[in-house]
Amino acid sequence: MKDAGKAKRPVFSRRTNWDLGENVLASACRAARESNKKLIDLTISNPTRSGFDYSAFDPSHDFASLENLHYNPDPLGLPVARKAVRDLYAQAGVPVPGNRLMLCASTSEAYSHLFRLLCNNGDALLAPVPSYPLFQFLADVCDVTLMPYRLHLETDGWRIDRKSLLAALSAKARAIIVVSPNNPTGSYLDAGDADFLCRTAQERGLALICDEVFADYPIAPRASAVRTLAGREGPLSFVLGGLSKLLAMPQMKLAWILTQGTDAEEACRRLEMIADTFLSVNAPVQNALPLWMPRREIIQGQVARRIAANMEFLRAELAGKPGLTVPPVEGGWYGLVAMEGIADEDGFALSLLEERGVVIHPGYYYDLGDDAFAVLSLLTPEDLWKDGVRALAEHHALVSVL
Ligand SMILES: Cc1ncc(COP(=O)(O)O)c(C=O)c1O
Repeated sequence: MKDAGKAKRPVFSRRTNWDLGENVLASACRAARESNKKLIDLTISNPTRSGFDYSAFDPSHDFASLENLHYNPDPLGLPVARKAVRDLYAQAGVPVPGNRLMLCASTSEAYSHLFRLLCNNGDALLAPVPSYPLFQFLADVCDVTLMPYRLHLETDGWRIDRKSLLAALSAKARAIIVVSPNNPTGSYLDAGDADFLCRTAQERGLALICDEVFADYPIAPRASAVRTLAGREGPLSFVLGGLSKLLAMPQMKLAWILTQGTDAEEACRRLEMIADTFLSVNAPVQNALPLWMPRREIIQGQVARRIAANMEFLRAELAGKPGLTVPPVEGGWYGLVAMEGIADEDGFALSLLEERGVVIHPGYYYDLGDDAFAVLSLLTPEDLWKDGVRALAEHHALVSVL
């Protein structure tokens, strides 16, 4: 065959020009694991690797329905599954019309559908900081710009910094994202902030996207915490939930978008078309949902007991330790430790790993600001948690400059 000349390399989109390298802490963790070093990982938030008992959700039984051999494509999701989700809201006192609820494969997919629904290239979305790092990638993939607004820590927890939210608004803004309870601050949306958000969204013609995936895991919500935005009239708003947290089963890949408020009907018709191009929700999980929803307490109870025990130990162990404080956590799966006297979060996390075999996430992963924080998963098994927290406190006492 004739030489076709020098092969040209394919071109990739600019939106995927990410730094794909491993960060310094991730490579140190990998090296430690490869050398079989015993680690106490205080960051594992995968519930299926946290020692919970899932035997009540036996797939060999719950997926055995012959219904699973039929393909009944429905862009909104199968009626039986949608009813199971609507029953959930009905039990919380929020009646949801059937055509306002759409299933999708994950909350991440829900975000992506919503970004596509609301934004043209270069439009902007307001997103909380500190929060969940995946937002930036979701925004990049959908060619939208994220405009951060800050949450600030008050004595009873984190609140929206309204000035920073108003400063982040521009003519390009299309929606405000709220995460309640937020990851990793554990803060619920405050009632006063909810009114402010609804007012602002309505005045500016913006939508609200409220991620409530952790809503079933209250720890110590303040009296004015908003437990759900579902059922609230006002601006166009989308409430997100999903099995990754509700049943602690991220592998099952089922989430939902509840649409309400101004122009909800038009939004639903367009969303249905977006979903119809993917039809991404699998049948077995949808068919199992009516069996699983009533059993949610079985898994949520285990998770809640673990979280309560770990929070109690964390507070007791760090009480009176100079330079270490535990900010209020209202809900969710994460705990924070504020660490005074630490100038370099990465340096602290690396030396904790190398000298004591304990893995934490530094606060800057979540944009926690100038103060040093350790971000910990409250799902950590209790015996490991105790050893890890003690080691963290001892290490801080040695290396901090107070
Ligand atoms: C706040 C928040 N929303 C959404 C997700 C993603 O959920 P899903 O597995 O449904 O995509 C996560 C994952 O941890 C999260 O922390």
